[in-house]
Amino acid sequence: MYNIAIIGTGYVGLVTGACFAELGNRVICVDNDSEKIKKLKSFIMPIYEPGLEELIKRNVNKHRLCFTTSIKKAIKESLVIFIAVGTPPKEDGDADLTAIENVSKTIALNMDTYKLIVGKSTVPVETGKWIEHTIKINIKKTLSFDVASNPEFLREGTAINDFLNPDRVVIGVSSKKSKDLLLDLYKPIKSPKIVTDIRSAELIKHASNSFLAIKVSYINAISKICELSGADVLKVAQGMGLDKRIGRTFLDAGLGFGGFCLPKDLDAFIKISEKLGYNFELLKSVRRINDDQVLSFIKKIKSSVWNIKSKRIGMLGLSFKPNTDDLRFAPSLKIIEKLREEGAKIKVFDPQSMQKAKGILKDVCFAKDSYDAAKGCDCLLIITEWNEFKELDFVKLKKIMRYPLIIDGRNLYDKDKLTKLGFTYLGIGR
Ligand code: UGA
Repeated sequence: MYNIAIIGTGYVGLVTGACFAELGNRVICVDNDSEKIKKLKSFIMPIYEPGLEELIKRNVNKHRLCFTTSIKKAIKESLVIFIAVGTPPKEDGDADLTAIENVSKTIALNMDTYKLIVGKSTVPVETGKWIEHTIKINIKKTLSFDVASNPEFLREGTAINDFLNPDRVVIGVSSKKSKDLLLDLYKPIKSPKIVTDIRSAELIKHASNSFLAIKVSYINAISKICELSGADVLKVAQGMGLDKRIGRTFLDAGLGFGGFCLPKDLDAFIKISEKLGYNFELLKSVRRINDDQVLSFIKKIKSSVWNIKSKRIGMLGLSFKPNTDDLRFAPSLKIIEKLREEGAKIKVFDPQSMQKAKGILKDVCFAKDSYDAAKGCDCLLIITEWNEFKELDFVKLKKIMRYPLIIDGRNLYDKDKLTKLGFTYLGIGR
């Protein structure tokens, strides 16, 4: 059992805190957003993540997990301190690391015994070096400490399972003491553990997320060739994916990768590479291909409905992927912006993110369910591949739509089946 502080209660911090508590540790989660902490104390989740509320409730009730705004208290009472604050993108794509610097300084000023400070947030390589430097110049000289990097690979929507059953645990350290401590902390997790230096651990995270982005952009580029040549990207992905060296995952062509991780980490990786003296052209192309997916989707809509002005467009899905209410860098937002610019009348439905969307989207109607979104529309767009969209009653749908046109940004449906039912159906790359 370890006393752990988690600084930052975003996706990564909250899931990490709850899961370490579940493994039997005593965890204090800290955030300077007092409203958020107040809500968490009353079990009101700031995000929708399957299973998280139950996990938090159970561990708070067993007195293994608590929430506070007092970073000082959390530092004093913990041996291991995880930094999980945000590293948002700056205008130029570079990661903004000021929150990491501020937290490092606060840790230095408030620690009174040995602490192990672990970077959990996704950061550019060499951030660990700066955390160590910041602590060194602010700490009382007699105290010792270690810095480590332990990047998180959880995905939104499956975060708890990803934390407790990861493909690997990456531990970047510079001393035996910190290595032993982290290996012991992760002992209950039966996945391969890889111990590296701190820089390599930091790089593993950026390199992994960018590789996933490459895979998605690659299949999206292939989808273009499929459309031009009359091939079917689903068949191509299936055939490629059976090669074990390639694998089928992350070969779903669609509207491009969104969310708060892949796009921002890709940009930050391009930036840090530039700073280190390498022009990462490959990743720049990956970015361009991704941006183009939304633009060519808009073109597809235009070429199917002719003038967009005053057309009624139904949209199924807003979140950047299913099983989350996260709208950050969701393709839906760009699509809505473009369609609104052209004067479309939009009605949307999403199973989880409507509440968040109401706060940021103007000039769109919010439907009460999928059929309400489709009613009277000239065209129905599939934006997010939620399970409930897979099982629609197409006979009913055809009756209530003004024109039976489905443009499927996630290749959710069987083209032949829908064509037989009388729909005009357009997917991606098929
Ligand atoms: C991603 C990584 O998968 C995690 O390992 C990592 O921990 C996380 O970022 C992070 O850095 O915190 P996440 O952003 O939750 O996780 O979502 P993914 O499941 O990776 O999907 C990313 C995007 O790629 C989504 O927009 C999804 O729709 C898109 N995607 C994914 C495709 O377009 N095609 C695919 O075949 C797979």
